[in-house]
Amino acid sequence: MTNLLSISDLSRDGLTEILTLSQRSYIGRPLDGQGVALLFQKPSARTRNSMEMAVVQLGGHPVYIQKEEVGLGTRETAEDVARTLACYHALIAARVMKHDDLDRMAAATDKPMLNMLSDTDHPLQALADLLTVKQLLGTFQGARIAYIGDANNVCRSLAQACSMLGVELRIASPEGYGLTPQEVASLSGVEQTHDPVEAVAGARFVYTDVWVSMGQDEETAARRQALAPFQVNAELMSRAAEAWFLHCLPARRGEEVTDEVLASSRSAVWRQAENRMHSARGAMAWMLGVG
Ligand code: CP
Ligand code: NVA
Repeated sequence: MTNLLSISDLSRDGLTEILTLSQRSYIGRPLDGQGVALLFQKPSARTRNSMEMAVVQLGGHPVYIQKEEVGLGTRETAEDVARTLACYHALIAARVMKHDDLDRMAAATDKPMLNMLSDTDHPLQALADLLTVKQLLGTFQGARIAYIGDANNVCRSLAQACSMLGVELRIASPEGYGLTPQEVASLSGVEQTHDPVEAVAGARFVYTDVWVSMGQDEETAARRQALAPFQVNAELMSRAAEAWFLHCLPARRGEEVTDEVLASSRSAVWRQAENRMHSARGAMAWMLGVG
């Protein structure tokens, strides 16, 4: 039984195997006749659709569950929700407000548990991101990514994946919006700065995400003010020479990124979105023991 709650749950070999499986369009039907629970406490376009289609491609049946239907921690404890879903499904996937709920669910069942985004991590996104890097460069060697803005769940999973695969990552965030010094010290090839121009110099990819993540609405004004100098626009992209632009989406156009950058010929955001399905298929196959 293999959980995937964080990229840090994986070994380098495990991460590489998932990326290899993700490049196979047909893996077989390891979920034949079985269900996968997809529980969402927050909205989703890419994750729900890519996971549903990946489950179908693996021969299984996805069951989409909205937060009101189970009331995680209100109608029933996280443990009892997990025990219930484990009665019917081969794999349980959840998007939660608090990462701790995933840990509690995973501890309560023997079924593999997959994180579809928590307040701290977004491992499925990082898998799609690294698959995109591999497709565009053909190799991880010499790849350098600049992440500009809020060092959030998406950034943390990206940093962990880059560290494992030997991809250099430079994060540029305002004071108070970076990864902790302890986290950075535990990763290799990851550096932090407060200067976006310094971060993008020599980068092959420039990545950003929203300034206000789901669940942070009360901090909107403060975040917009602190992160305004970290917008990815044509001027910043020009400092990176021939870089590709990456964004997990959804984007707040005109905030963290301009329309011009999103629509440019160097934008790889729709490739990333498609890769969410391929990497979800690879990740679930790996969790189910396909090697
Ligand atoms: N990138 C991503 O996870 O998108 P959704 O929130 O639409 O699933
Ligand atoms: N950091 C964003 C990612 C959305 C896919 C959030 O958590 O809202």
